[in-house]
Amino acid sequence: DQNLLKKIIAHSKEYGYVFPSSEIYDGLSATYDYGQYGAELKKNIRDYWWKAMVQMNENIVGIDASIFMHPTTWKASGHVDAFNDPMIDNKDSKKRYRADVLIEDFVAKIEAKIDKEVAKAEKRFGDAFNKEEFLSTNGRVLDNQKKIDNINARFKKDIEEENFEDLKLLIEELGIADPVSGSKNWTEVKQFNLMFSTELGAVTEGASKIYLRPETAQGIFVNYLNVQKTGRMKLPFGIAQTGKAFRNEIIARQFIFRMREFEQMEMQFFIKPGTEMEWYENWKEKRIKWHKSLGLGEENYRFHDHLNLAHYANAACDIEFNFPMGFKELEGIHSRTDFDLKAHEEYSGKKLQFFDSEEEKSYVPYVVETSIGLDRMFLAILSSAYTEETLEDGSSRIVLKIPPVLAPVKAAVLPLINKDGLPEKAREIMDELKYSVNVQMDVKDAIGRRYRRQDAIGTPYCITVDHQTLEDGMVTIRERDTMEQRRVSVDEVVAEIEKAVDL
Ligand code: GAP
Repeated sequence: DQNLLKKIIAHSKEYGYVFPSSEIYDGLSATYDYGQYGAELKKNIRDYWWKAMVQMNENIVGIDASIFMHPTTWKASGHVDAFNDPMIDNKDSKKRYRADVLIEDFVAKIEAKIDKEVAKAEKRFGDAFNKEEFLSTNGRVLDNQKKIDNINARFKKDIEEENFEDLKLLIEELGIADPVSGSKNWTEVKQFNLMFSTELGAVTEGASKIYLRPETAQGIFVNYLNVQKTGRMKLPFGIAQTGKAFRNEIIARQFIFRMREFEQMEMQFFIKPGTEMEWYENWKEKRIKWHKSLGLGEENYRFHDHLNLAHYANAACDIEFNFPMGFKELEGIHSRTDFDLKAHEEYSGKKLQFFDSEEEKSYVPYVVETSIGLDRMFLAILSSAYTEETLEDGSSRIVLKIPPVLAPVKAAVLPLINKDGLPEKAREIMDELKYSVNVQMDVKDAIGRRYRRQDAIGTPYCITVDHQTLEDGMVTIRERDTMEQRRVSVDEVVAEIEKAVDL
């Protein structure tokens, strides 16, 4: 639902979650800045992930490697030679597109047609509707599905064989038009490397070309022995890291879903060769559980196995989330074999082997990685949280039903009116709460408007201080999602809120 995405973008801007970058200069395409609430939500997601990976697993530790790395890193990792996307230019608009994205969008349109047929039939047959049976018998659906399968198969073959002439032909045969100008006048398809480069040192000193890392993983690979030795780690063990990564995505689109500068949360799990499939399955299961436990709706996740494997993997899948644009990749789980460590051994001339004291031999470990985009997780949370509700009195509200553990502001303290000692009492409560949770005080406007404002930010609890509070020491706690209110003693408020926001 593109309309929902538009609403989320507008809401994010209006309420300090996400701003277009360099907005006063009309923005820079596909770069965004996180505002006061966005930065909090991002930090909470990062902490939540870190806790699940590093704190909860005795055999996983975290590091923070630099964005710049020795340029040979990217030669060894394969990114210099293989981190390419096939691109095609439109001769009329002079715009450049990723060929795979053009085809993906075309396929999505056919999928939408199938969905429409399903929805129509569902309406017609009601309870008697059997989706599986319908999909496997309806002529129009079958034709469209066949079309999709043919396009995907041909695209996959073209990519594998690097047959870019045929890829161009495919785009022309499908009649794909430039999404901006509508022109179908395409150039040939060319490979385009996604890494950003810059120069290290002043030119006179003999500058060398270096890259902004396109994934955080390599900082872990080159440090794995440092960590293993200093941490006295035994296989299997993991190294986790969060940080910025950069890719010169040609079509950066759909808000923060695909950006040129984004943040990854990655974990490389080092294992004994031969155990990779076991660990691959194990991490698939652990990660999907983590996602589902957050409460964004179990039906919003699915696995997508990769047929078209990245240059480093022998098995790979995505955890897809049901974004406003449909199911799309949120996290990748990859069995990377010993591809990276072996390559770094070769290029650096240093041994990167682990001594297995049980087997009394040394070998290069295999690696299973989990890699999730923090910005995509952010979008997943916002899009499932964004809710428009009509209330009993006919008025409406927009509420962000963010899981309390991740909400930017956990509680707002609201004096009913801004006098009679109520603000002072509110501040007392706030001063007590602020040591454990992020809390806000708001004194402006009528109480109803302040509730709406907190709903729009996604604050799970409002604590209202009224005249009676001064007499009986009780405050009202209002719950964001149900809007239920109850009286609680001031002495218990801190413990109540702390308990409520910790999953
Ligand atoms: N180390 C493995 C790796 O980088 P990837 O599938 O290319 O794998 C991992 O990226 C995750 O990073 C993706 O699942 C996605 O969530 C996120 N990601 C990748 N490119 C992105 C982009 N341009 N903008 C935002 N997030 C991105």
